[in-house]
Amino acid sequence: MEKIIDEKKQGQTLVLDKKEGNSRKLFIESYGCAMNFSDSEIVASILSNEGFDTTQHLEDADLVLVNTCSIRDKAEQTVRKRLEKYNAVKKINPKMKIGVLGCMAERLKTKFLEEEKMVDMVVGPDAYKDLPNLIAEIDDGRNAVNVILSKEETYGDISPVRLNSNGVTAFVSITRGCDNMCTFCVVPFTRGRERSRDPHSILEEVNDLWFKGYKEITLLGQNVDSYLWYGGGLKKDFDKATEIQKATATNFAGLLDLCAKAQPKMRIRFSTSNPQDMTMDVVETMAQHKNICNYIHLPVQSGSNRILKAMNRQHTREEYFDMIAKIKRILPDCTISHDLIAGFPTETEADHQETLSLMEHVKYSFGYMFAYSERPGTMAERKLEDDVPEAVKKRRLQEIVDLQQVHSRIRTEEFLNKTVEVLIEKESKKSDQHWSGRNEHNSVVVFPKEHYKIGDFVNVRTTDCTTATLIGEAIGYSENN
Ligand code: SAH
Ligand code: F3S
Repeated sequence: MEKIIDEKKQGQTLVLDKKEGNSRKLFIESYGCAMNFSDSEIVASILSNEGFDTTQHLEDADLVLVNTCSIRDKAEQTVRKRLEKYNAVKKINPKMKIGVLGCMAERLKTKFLEEEKMVDMVVGPDAYKDLPNLIAEIDDGRNAVNVILSKEETYGDISPVRLNSNGVTAFVSITRGCDNMCTFCVVPFTRGRERSRDPHSILEEVNDLWFKGYKEITLLGQNVDSYLWYGGGLKKDFDKATEIQKATATNFAGLLDLCAKAQPKMRIRFSTSNPQDMTMDVVETMAQHKNICNYIHLPVQSGSNRILKAMNRQHTREEYFDMIAKIKRILPDCTISHDLIAGFPTETEADHQETLSLMEHVKYSFGYMFAYSERPGTMAERKLEDDVPEAVKKRRLQEIVDLQQVHSRIRTEEFLNKTVEVLIEKESKKSDQHWSGRNEHNSVVVFPKEHYKIGDFVNVRTTDCTTATLIGEAIGYSENN
């Protein structure tokens, strides 16, 4: 889910409206994936009932929370720098307490408290409901820790407050954890086993968002296609479910169908799909509903079968091509994006060429590309030597990025001189005279504001483009408006 949160939003301070009677001030920052940003909304909701209003000013805070990411070493280094900054401010304001949330909390546990003495409180991703107790502990001058991972927790009963929202698009989390054990990935260790959220609570949230004026939701999970609700319980225990539970279970295609029908004018997106778990009934459901966006983020990680195997990705490049062909048969104009890792252990120049040739074959519209970063405790770290030199990783990554640029332009140009439906999300970063939004295929579209406003669905005639942005002029409201 890395992909949804762009660089500029990293570390964004989140604020919400003041609540009557609240007197303490919370400063909460989020790093990493969309799930973290969504989790921070749950945390702010819990703390709003504990007397905390949010503030944008670190200096004013009674409590500073940082929701952290462990996916690559660089992400952890960024958080460490922030912790140093908070501690510098704490020297001036000693009553301030500091807490670390999320994946780094889970990975490093008490190390933050004992060795580094950088924080007062450590809270893992499944322990946010314990925050009131943990805060009582630190108020009494003790350190507080809860990093217990849960088999049930989905926060389905907590209505997230929407922090710094544009009031138009929102994330709705549907699963937590991941059971896939890709050998490079720390997520199964930091976020625990995979569990799904009750579809009723998901639908309630979707309906509530619609009534509050939201026009687009993104259903979130580490691996959305493996969503499975059979009355609660881990995905891996489904075999032990009763016959009735099995017969009435809801899978991801079923959930998409429920959401699309519940609010037929709400745009629906989802992220992320792992090719090994994605099934064609999901694509069929997309085809049946106009409001489900024709866009799939389908990370592949590598184009080499040998490396895919070493990564424990359960498919070959041929199976991946086959899946894309099937998707295109059902949804000919479906946009596909990817994640790729350069320099996984043992990757040779020939493996890298296979990645480039896979990209040539698919010609992705977008991509999120990373140099391999060894993560402590993962299978790759334990079994394989991180043997691709940094300079080689960097060069291969650059070749991947350069090729993606070429493909992005080709894909963006496919929408040129056409009419596209755009949901207006915000003012363009480059001009206060222009709106910025996206079409259903996830391309950014920029056009003069005229009388339109944020949240409108508008038909835009495209006349120009850059690599990844379409430029045009509105020709009227779309029928969805
Ligand atoms: N299934 C998740 C994946 C989370 S991680 C999702 O919902 O997106 C996002 C991406 O980070 C992965 O697809 C992978 O390309 C990249 N990534 C994960 N671990 C990495 C590592 N150790 N080094 C470099 N990139 C990594
Ligand atoms: Fe990570 Fe693979 Fe799951 S990338 S989040 S282990 S699907």
